[in-house]
Amino acid sequence: MLHRIPTYIKRLDEILGGGLTSGEISLVYGEAETAKTTLAMQCAVNCARRGYKTLFIDCDGTFSTKRLSQIASEDFEKISELVILARPKDFKEQAALIDQLNNYVAKGFGLIVVDTLTFLYRIEVSEKPEKTFMLNRELNRQMAWLAQVAKTQKLAVLVMSQVRNVFEEGCVEVEPVATRVLKFWADTIIFMKPTENPQIVSLTITKKSKTTQPFSCQLQICKNGLCDYSLD
Ligand SMILES: Nc1ncnc2c1ncn2[C@@H]1O[C@H](COP(=O)(O)OP(=O)(O)OP(=O)(O)O)[C@@H](O)[C@H]1O
Ligand SMILES: [Mg+2]
Repeated sequence: MLHRIPTYIKRLDEILGGGLTSGEISLVYGEAETAKTTLAMQCAVNCARRGYKTLFIDCDGTFSTKRLSQIASEDFEKISELVILARPKDFKEQAALIDQLNNYVAKGFGLIVVDTLTFLYRIEVSEKPEKTFMLNRELNRQMAWLAQVAKTQKLAVLVMSQVRNVFEEGCVEVEPVATRVLKFWADTIIFMKPTENPQIVSLTITKKSKTTQPFSCQLQICKNGLCDYSLD
């Protein structure tokens, strides 16, 4: 069994205690272009390097084989066989796919990625605002089931979310879409923030099990994925 999926980003793995944890949900949220999908692909690649499959649920249709080949580098052929892509076209299809996860993932899977869990949800909410409450409950049901599958199948679940602006104490902050639902089910929460330099992102990592202050680090977006960044 795969207990941890390393990111192979030294500082991030130190903070995460070796990488993404099997049996748990990790939530990644942040503005556009903060390398959320890059991080997800990197985890899928490292999972494959350990011989385990990933079910990559590409809800926003941004999965790029070219980007995967940059990250997987010379192992691309071997790795691409272990990354199984699913593309739900609406929130209903996403729900059906998540409901049937046990039919897709079995022995040999180490990771499920949902990128982006709130993309099709947001479209549905904007088209049917009167159904927001019901849709939010449906999202909660999907997260609960993902948590259950993570535990029973002993694999890691990585959920990505977009952000929305909130006004707090006179300034604008961002938080994940459907923040209460997502944060309730996540064991680890990674917030990815842009910096003045478009190649550098700033991460804040909170672990539910730890009462310590959140951890933080800065990472660089490179050709073959995210890597450590330090000024010296
Ligand atoms: N080969 C590469 N070298 C350097 N940077 C790259 C390369 N390929 C992509 N990028 C950059 O990586 C950044 C992050 O892209 P990514 O798609 O991972 O972000 P994201 O947070 O998932 O965005 P979105 O919210 O739009 O889904 C982008 O700014 C993109 O320009
Ligand atoms: Mg993305």
